[in-house]
Amino acid sequence: MASQDEQNGKTGLLLAFLCVSTSSLALGAAKSPDADAIVDLARSVSNLPPSWTAGADICGYEGVTCDKDSGRVTTIDLRDKGLAGTLPSSALSSLAAVTALHLGGNRLAGAVPSLASLASLALVVLDGNAFTSLPADFLKDVPSLRDLSLDSLPLQPWSLPEAIPSLSLEYFSASAANLAGPFPANLPCSSLTTLRLNRNNLSGPIDAVASLKSLTVLMIDHNSFSGPIPDLSGMSQLETFSAGDNLLTGLVPASMTKMPSLRRVSLANNLLQGPMPEFGHGVDTDVLGNDFCHPEPGRPCDAQVTALLQVAAGFGYPLQLSRNWYGNTTCNSKDGTASWVGVVCNGTDVTEVSLQQMNLSGTISPAFANLTAVVRLNLSGNHLAGAIPDALATMPRLALLDVTNNNLRGQIPKFKPSVQVMAQGNRFGKSVPPPAAGVPAGTTAGSPPAGTVSSSLPANSASRFNLGIIANVILALVIANWG
Ligand SMILES: *[C@@H]1O[C@H](CO)[C@@H](O)[C@H](O)[C@H]1NC(C)=O
Ligand SMILES: *[C@@H]1O[C@H](CO)[C@@H](O)[C@H](O)[C@H]1NC(C)=O
Ligand SMILES: *[C@@H]1O[C@H](CO)[C@@H](O)[C@H](O)[C@H]1NC(C)=O
Ligand SMILES: *[C@@H]1O[C@H](CO)[C@@H](O)[C@H](O)[C@H]1NC(C)=O
Ligand SMILES: *[C@@H]1O[C@H](CO)[C@@H](O)[C@H](O)[C@H]1NC(C)=O
Ligand SMILES: *[C@@H]1O[C@H](CO)[C@@H](O)[C@H](O)[C@H]1NC(C)=O
Repeated sequence: MASQDEQNGKTGLLLAFLCVSTSSLALGAAKSPDADAIVDLARSVSNLPPSWTAGADICGYEGVTCDKDSGRVTTIDLRDKGLAGTLPSSALSSLAAVTALHLGGNRLAGAVPSLASLASLALVVLDGNAFTSLPADFLKDVPSLRDLSLDSLPLQPWSLPEAIPSLSLEYFSASAANLAGPFPANLPCSSLTTLRLNRNNLSGPIDAVASLKSLTVLMIDHNSFSGPIPDLSGMSQLETFSAGDNLLTGLVPASMTKMPSLRRVSLANNLLQGPMPEFGHGVDTDVLGNDFCHPEPGRPCDAQVTALLQVAAGFGYPLQLSRNWYGNTTCNSKDGTASWVGVVCNGTDVTEVSLQQMNLSGTISPAFANLTAVVRLNLSGNHLAGAIPDALATMPRLALLDVTNNNLRGQIPKFKPSVQVMAQGNRFGKSVPPPAAGVPAGTTAGSPPAGTVSSSLPANSASRFNLGIIANVILALVIANWG
């Protein structure tokens, strides 16, 4: 029988251990049903703790705990051990009783082994390794998974699986993990309370996050998300919203500034427009580096600016307008030339809006009618849908409206005879379907703007995985060897 000294000694070479036969293992403690899997796991890993010695009960290995009765492995905690090498693809798939796997802070490389069908698995932390890929079935059938942390991994670009929010996950963090592509569109109801996807290459609209109603922490900063901020007011638990360094456009929804749960908001370095949002006193706010009309919170914008931003809202706040339509002055009053793309001025009045062939989608806003000095309006050659708002027929100076070659429907409003209306290449006479929910997609992703935001947001939950196991392991070992 092995003595305690030998158990803890540094003499056991992994290689020697691998050559030990099943029968010699049986000389020690009763063999864990997971012994082969742990041996397999260890086979290609270097720098394992000294207790991982030949002939020892795997339930006595530092970082491994087993169920007392069945001998099955319940947790593996090998964080910050300097482990290197790779893990065989099926190394973990037979550990049917494993509830927690913490391999964070090592130098493990290659593919992450599959975790599919591990029914008891509740926590997985792989942060800060050198893993380069995730298997396709990584998250298949893991119904107990609550915490998943994949921060700082040099993975091949991967997309957010549609399945993630439908898992039982409460904490999901994949910061700086090379996530790319869009946010999944239809998120089922979810138990997620923390979602950290910052410092990736995610793009497209963020409307879907509004359905994650149990979130308290949402961090999506340093990506390439675009389009407007959705109405988040249904997220009644949301305390931290970090969305800086993206390509978000449009107005900050008024509903957001009134959310009672909010404590920290970062919207810095986007292309947000309109009045600077005014959050309540206890809210830690960073909104610098946007296109607000004025650097003072809550003050309204100039009437023509407001109207043109409502016009842009109809188009879903497209990037090509947001990059240019900012500030509180549409017309450069000194020389009468316009400062906003597509806008022509006479003095301080907007007299022409020419947004033809700009790949615009969405609808024509009735707010055009608030630009009362406009004489010419050209929206031809876009993808505009819906009807021409009746309000346009009230524009006092309008002389020319060109909406040729769009997808417009409904009836053309009754314009004064003095207005020349050009409307070929549309679908007029067809009824207008009710407006679709949400804003039309009409933006393209580019690279995020330069600059960084300092963030005082919470760190990950790694510290929550803190099992005081070593004493129990040693005790179990001693008992086993005396038995
Ligand atoms: C981000 O994604 C875009 C495509 O959406 C790609 O062109 C670009 O190279 C990616 N950038 C990084 C840093 O991966
Ligand atoms: C914006 O400009 C208008 C004049 O066009 C001015 O009355 C208003 O005070 C300005 N708003 C801000 C926030 O500067
Ligand atoms: C600009 O406005 C002035 C007076 O408001 C008017 O006399 C002039 O004709 C306008 N110019 C153009 C090009 O519309
Ligand atoms: C025009 O402006 C007024 C006041 O500025 C506003 O109440 C109204 O909603 C605007 N009209 C449209 C069609 O946006
Ligand atoms: C509107 O723009 C289109 C595309 O540039 C152009 O062909 C057309 O002549 C313009 N309409 C008017 C009335 O100037
Ligand atoms: C036009 O917009 C659509 C999305 O609405 C986008 O997929 C397409 O790439 C854009 N085309 C150009 C030429 O910008």
